[in-house]
Amino acid sequence: MERPHAPEESGQGEVRLRFQRLGDIIVVKDRFFPKENREELARSLAERFGAKSVVLDMGIEGEFRKPRIRLLYGSSTETFHRENGVVYHLDLSKVMFSKGNVHERRRLISLVREGEVVVDMFAGIGYFSLQIAKHTRASRVVSCEKNPDAFAFLVENIMINGLETRVQPMMGDCREACPWRVGDRVIMGYLDAVKFLEHAVAALRGPGHLHVHGTGKTPRELLDEVEVRLGQLGCTYEVLGVRRVKSYAPRVYHYVVDLRVDPRSAASP
Ligand SMILES: C[S@@+](CC[C@H](N)C(=O)[O-])C[C@H]1O[C@@H](n2cnc3c(N)ncnc32)[C@H](O)[C@@H]1O
Repeated sequence: MERPHAPEESGQGEVRLRFQRLGDIIVVKDRFFPKENREELARSLAERFGAKSVVLDMGIEGEFRKPRIRLLYGSSTETFHRENGVVYHLDLSKVMFSKGNVHERRRLISLVREGEVVVDMFAGIGYFSLQIAKHTRASRVVSCEKNPDAFAFLVENIMINGLETRVQPMMGDCREACPWRVGDRVIMGYLDAVKFLEHAVAALRGPGHLHVHGTGKTPRELLDEVEVRLGQLGCTYEVLGVRRVKSYAPRVYHYVVDLRVDPRSAASP
């Protein structure tokens, strides 16, 4: 959030609001935005901060993490958002963009080593894939995405950023679209990632790294789920760490588990 203020009086009779900015659009969260005079407030926010639209964010839903939004001001939900030297074209009525994952995107860049093949199983519009392709010496990034709307933006964003030779987009469910035995590192940026672990292991070409996202009240909660599943698959693995990505709900957090896994001992999916 760019303005970390709950709706409140600033002391000068002015209401301060929490909001995020994606490109030239302001995004306000339903639970933090005053319930009264929303359109009027949205108009003054847009005018004050030079945004073309103001969008009310009511959460994301379903397998495709589709946003539930309402346009409070302006006429367009499409924008070009820039983060860490990468341009993302997106339509906020069709695909999500979590600014809260920015540190995780930067952290991953620091982990990727020269020559690695990185598999991004839940690529969306290229959140992780484009940053890695742009800022690391990975030999290539294989990016799977099932939602046709997100996939279309992924393909366009690869071109906008001039990364056609570095990112290979694969349309479809990662359980089928993801190639086997190609990767050195697999990113599982989806909160139900544990259910897909066998496919991530199958995507490794030798001992390699997995980054498994999920939620829990404590890091142990997610780690237990991951370890139970890897045990069922018969994998040899080492836990490298668990990191909190962001808050997800009251007392529930989004975590990522980093692992080194040897796929040779695992059962095939
Ligand atoms: C939550 S978004 C990606 C978030 C992103 N990692 C970030 O940092 O903000 C997850 C993406 O996975 C896609 N997805 C869901 N199930 C999938 C599957 N079985 N195969 C491939 N993509 C899938 C969704 O359409 C969505 O675009």
